[in-house]
Amino acid sequence: MPAETQPPCHVFLVTFPGQGHMNPTLRLGKKLASKGLHITIATTLDFGHCLRNAGSIADQRYPFGDGFIDFHFWNDGWENDDLRRRDLDLYLPQLELTGKAALSQTLKDRAAENRPVSCLIGNPFVPWVCDVANEFGIPCSVLWVQSCSVFSVYYHFSRKTLNFPSESDPFCDVEIPSLPLLKHDEIPSFLHPYGEYKAIGRSILQQFRNVSVPFCILMDTFEELEKDVIDHMSTICSVIPIGPLFQTLKLSDEKGSLSGDFLKADDCFEWLDSKPEKSVVYISFGSIVHLSQTQVEEMAHALCNSGFSFLWVMKPLMKDMADCLGLKSHVLPDGFLEKAGERAKIVKWSPQQRVLFHPSIACFVTHCGWNSSVEALSTGVPMVVLPQWGDQVTNAKFLVEQFGVGLRLTRGVTEKRLVLRDEFEKCLRDAIVGPKAEELRENALKWKKAAEKAAAEGGSSETHIDELVGEIRKRSG
Ligand code: UDX
Repeated sequence: MPAETQPPCHVFLVTFPGQGHMNPTLRLGKKLASKGLHITIATTLDFGHCLRNAGSIADQRYPFGDGFIDFHFWNDGWENDDLRRRDLDLYLPQLELTGKAALSQTLKDRAAENRPVSCLIGNPFVPWVCDVANEFGIPCSVLWVQSCSVFSVYYHFSRKTLNFPSESDPFCDVEIPSLPLLKHDEIPSFLHPYGEYKAIGRSILQQFRNVSVPFCILMDTFEELEKDVIDHMSTICSVIPIGPLFQTLKLSDEKGSLSGDFLKADDCFEWLDSKPEKSVVYISFGSIVHLSQTQVEEMAHALCNSGFSFLWVMKPLMKDMADCLGLKSHVLPDGFLEKAGERAKIVKWSPQQRVLFHPSIACFVTHCGWNSSVEALSTGVPMVVLPQWGDQVTNAKFLVEQFGVGLRLTRGVTEKRLVLRDEFEKCLRDAIVGPKAEELRENALKWKKAAEKAAAEGGSSETHIDELVGEIRKRSG
């Protein structure tokens, strides 16, 4: 049957309730909807409340081209402020229990409404989506939300065939096929004997129990960026690079209002418009990282002393993080705002995708979450990197040494030291006006062009997405 005469395909995307997971899921949803597919994005009711309160979504269907996006929320069975959500060892089984039941019921309901689901797409932390798909005989895919290099490290760690740092040999280097040599502290910190939050590492490793169950593993990366490791992993499972999904910014629903932000973004464009080209430092540490108060103070002094203008995201401390981890809200040094004056713009949350595109941005001080990394690579913005944990330390290595777009302040894991103000200020200068600045900008521009090419019609990622849509249509019969 020609594609036009087939009934519309209904693709159900299930995401873990976190910003770093929701953003790529929503971007993929927009992309598929724009190609005529009917999309449902499912996450927990609790996370849905955050999105609604932030004004990011409303109770409506969002049309994109010939397709649309609907949302579906399931109740994870816990009260809104339940602190157990901060403990993945407790939360993931609860998500599985409630999510599996809710998804099974929804699949039955959709079939009864004559709107059967043609394909399920899960993401890390919700591996049970593939189990439900198998039970219902529905094709299933996974959207991996980190880099292919990091995927490869987790995969090889899970197979236990290579040497990794251990209690008895914590400082050994790691040699993985098709990756540069990784020093002991350049593997995702959850796998390191000295790393924090090992429970997260255990949860992530669950995804690697059987990588051939999904018919493909989608990645928010592009061939040109991670060619060798994509080629290598493709010999093991069906890895499909479809990024940067960030480029879907150009796709908007009729009202242009659908975003996955769990906090309401502050307007900063009037301020950015008032600044000269490539003059502003943008500082943001994603949705979860919380720096120490002393680090924030040193950074504040560095920014003030540097003379650069800066847009700084200081997100409010979530109540559950304060209660559960004993963290405190950051306080800026006395007289900081008066001293910085018009050069400072502090926001609680920024429209980061659009900020990075703004011509006034000179560099991005980042924790190197994969979403932020891909966004900066796609917009050609050089980086100053301050990784904290998890994949951030691996991403930092690649951004600095392989892609040539960043300068490193710390390494994370064993060296999560305080970066003092003078060193911080020097690094900002080096990234913006120092002898290395031109090279960083040239490399950043090179990756921006490569990212645009991959996502443009006929480009590698766009072609993979068209093939994916074809495959979903074919598999849905
Ligand atoms: C988490 C992990 O911490 C990270 O290591 C992993 O790679 C992905 O999951 P997070 O820390 O939130 O993610 O960082 P990141 O991956 O960079 O995602 C943050 C997202 O929030 C980005 O898409 C960014 O554009 C967005 N954001 C952040 C905003 O829109 N506004 C802000 O003010 C800050």
